[in-house]
Amino acid sequence: MSWTAADIPDQTGRTAVVTGANGGLGLETARALAATGAHVVMAARNQDKAAEAVADIRRGTPDASLVLVALDLGSQASVRDAAERILAAHEKLDILVNNAGVMGIPERRTADGFEMQFGVDHLGHYALTVLLMPALLRADAARVVTVTSTAHHMGRAVDPANPHLDGKYGPWRAYGQAKLANFHFGIGLQRRLAAAGAPAASLIAHPGLSNTDLQAVSVRETGGGLSQRFFHRLARSTGMSPEEGARPQLRAATDPEAKGGEFYAPRFVNSGSPARRPILRRIGMDDAIARLWEVSERETGLKFDSLSSTAARSSGTP
Ligand SMILES: NC(=O)c1ccc[n+]([C@@H]2O[C@H](COP(=O)([O-])OP(=O)(O)OC[C@H]3O[C@@H](n4cnc5c(N)ncnc54)[C@H](OP(=O)(O)O)[C@@H]3O)[C@@H](O)[C@H]2O)c1
Repeated sequence: MSWTAADIPDQTGRTAVVTGANGGLGLETARALAATGAHVVMAARNQDKAAEAVADIRRGTPDASLVLVALDLGSQASVRDAAERILAAHEKLDILVNNAGVMGIPERRTADGFEMQFGVDHLGHYALTVLLMPALLRADAARVVTVTSTAHHMGRAVDPANPHLDGKYGPWRAYGQAKLANFHFGIGLQRRLAAAGAPAASLIAHPGLSNTDLQAVSVRETGGGLSQRFFHRLARSTGMSPEEGARPQLRAATDPEAKGGEFYAPRFVNSGSPARRPILRRIGMDDAIARLWEVSERETGLKFDSLSSTAARSSGTP
């Protein structure tokens, strides 16, 4: 039986934060969560597009509970600002979908000097998750869903001596590293939450090949790169709709049967119904996760080491 958004249980009373909620998979994720009753914090960079996204969701769900928060994952200051605003307005958070991303672009740097794909796709989400954790731990059973890609298979684990690929940059090498970092982050976070006995879970999802703006942006940014045009054509001709592509992350975020550490993806790799998939590439994973944490803590200056004390504070334990 195929799982669709119609299988999402009632989300009334729950609050979800979705990054990149102004388009593509993020918009479909926000739309489905709002339609099932969740209050959705749409964290987005381009605010004109975000306002259109809100209007678009409200055309189908007039009473959707939505709030926009400006978030540029390529600026740690913006991530801190967005987190402060979210925390100021929401005592608890039930769902965080780390969805936003860029793919296969030319070498660029974030405001903090990070390589752009690693900086936006991973380090921005790492920082956001650390900062939102106190509110996530106040929920009964929060879920953090981090969106990776089949590109994680071609990624190399981050090298603490050169995380920003100085002198070694390639658009696909950087994307592979960033999406493998998403994969390892989701698993590493679950391990830490479980070890701390925290009432929250971390899951990973990948959308298969979905016809969104992702490929068009990479074509535009590279001035019409050959491989970028190939993936653009492939997504246009064989990709799933954004609504279908969002299903794995929606299932990871809402299926009552889903558990921390699980990985949801289309059944047939790039298309099909969202299903739980095995975690592969386990050899060397512990070391890769440890190195990712070392780099993430060093580059953002933020740590998850207060997980258990935050959990204790949240439940009123001194
Ligand atoms: N589509 C696929 O086939 C596919 C396959 C595998 C994995 N994925 C993953 O799915 C996720 C969503 O991608 P998509 O397919 O929905 O692509 P998309 O339509 O291009 O959407 C990407 C989203 O990321 C946002 N974003 C980019 N840079 C940002 C930044 N610096 N700060 C905040 N937001 C930023 C974009 O916002 P702006 O409008 O402001 O740029 C947009 O909302 C990504 O993580 C991607 O790697 C997609």
